[in-house]
Amino acid sequence: MSHLLTVEGLPREEIEEILDTAESFMEVLERDIPKVPALRGSTVATMFFEASTRTRLSFERAAKALSADVMTFNPGTSSVSKGESLKDTALTLQAMGCNLMVVRHQAVGAAHRIAEWVDCPVVNAGDGAHQHPTQALIDCLALRRRFGKLDGLRVSVVGDIRHSRVARSDAFAFTAMGASVTWVAPATLLPPSLEMFPVTATADLEPQLPDSDVIYLLRVQSERGATSGLPSSSEFAARYGMDLDRLARLPSEAVVMHPGPINRGVELAGAVADDPRSLIVEQVGVGVAVRMAVLFRLSGGQL
Ligand code: NCD
Repeated sequence: MSHLLTVEGLPREEIEEILDTAESFMEVLERDIPKVPALRGSTVATMFFEASTRTRLSFERAAKALSADVMTFNPGTSSVSKGESLKDTALTLQAMGCNLMVVRHQAVGAAHRIAEWVDCPVVNAGDGAHQHPTQALIDCLALRRRFGKLDGLRVSVVGDIRHSRVARSDAFAFTAMGASVTWVAPATLLPPSLEMFPVTATADLEPQLPDSDVIYLLRVQSERGATSGLPSSSEFAARYGMDLDRLARLPSEAVVMHPGPINRGVELAGAVADDPRSLIVEQVGVGVAVRMAVLFRLSGGQL
C-alpha cells in the first residue's frame, strides 16, 4: 500500500490486516501513556479544504500517538485565498519535508491528483461524494468488534446516499467483508446509476427494519444541494428518521451507526443516538486506532 485513496477493490485480507493493526493500537491507546515512537521524526500534514471535526482531529491525534509531528494546513488562512493552486500547495508542503499527506477536498479525485504530484504517501480523507476510505475501515472495525465478523450481516444504509462518500465507501468495504448492503432512500437521494455498486436499493424503510442487523444513518447534505430534491426535513424525518418506535422493530441484537455529524431530530431522534444500541461513539473511538494503523502501514511499518 503506497497511498490510501479508495476502498473500491481493496481485498478482504488487506482490510483485515489493517483492522488487526488497528486492534493493536487500540491497546496502545488504553495505556497510561498512550503513545508509541513508531513515526518519530516523520511529519504528517493534514490538508482539509472542507469542514471537519472528527476526521481531522482524529488523524492528528493518531499521528501524535505515533510520535509524528503534525503540520495543519488551513485553506481559509492560506495562500489558496491568493490564488495558489492545489498542485503548488502540495509541492510547498512537500518541500518543507512533509512525509505523509492527509487530504480532504470538495472535488472528486483531488487526493488522487496530489498523489500523482508528490512523492510521499497520500490518504484520501474525503473527496466530494466519491470516497472516504478510513471511515469505511472504521465502520468495519466497529462492526467486527460488536459482532465478531461482518459475514452475513444485513446492513441498511438510510438517507442521503447520493451525496455521501461514506455510503459509497462502506458499500465496497462491507461487501468485501461478507456483509450485504441495501441503500434506503427516495430516488432523488440515490446516485443516478447503481450499476457500479454492490448494493440493492429501496425507497421504503419500514419493511427493512425487521431484516436489518445494522441501520446506518446518513445526514442530508444540504451543503451539496441535497435539499433541492427533497420534502421538508420534518417530512424526511417522518419517512426515514430513526426514532424509538422504529428502533423497537429492529432485531434485538441490531445496532445503529452514523458517521457524524448527526442532526438530532432529523435522521435520528436524540434518544436513538444515546441508546445503548447506537455505535456512534464507538465509531469515533476506534477511529483514532484505525488512522494510526493506516499512517503506520503507509509509512512502511510492519507489526
Ligand atoms: C462525513 C464526511 O465528511 O464525509 N463525516 C465524516 O467524515 N465522519 C459525513 C458527513 O459530512 O455527513
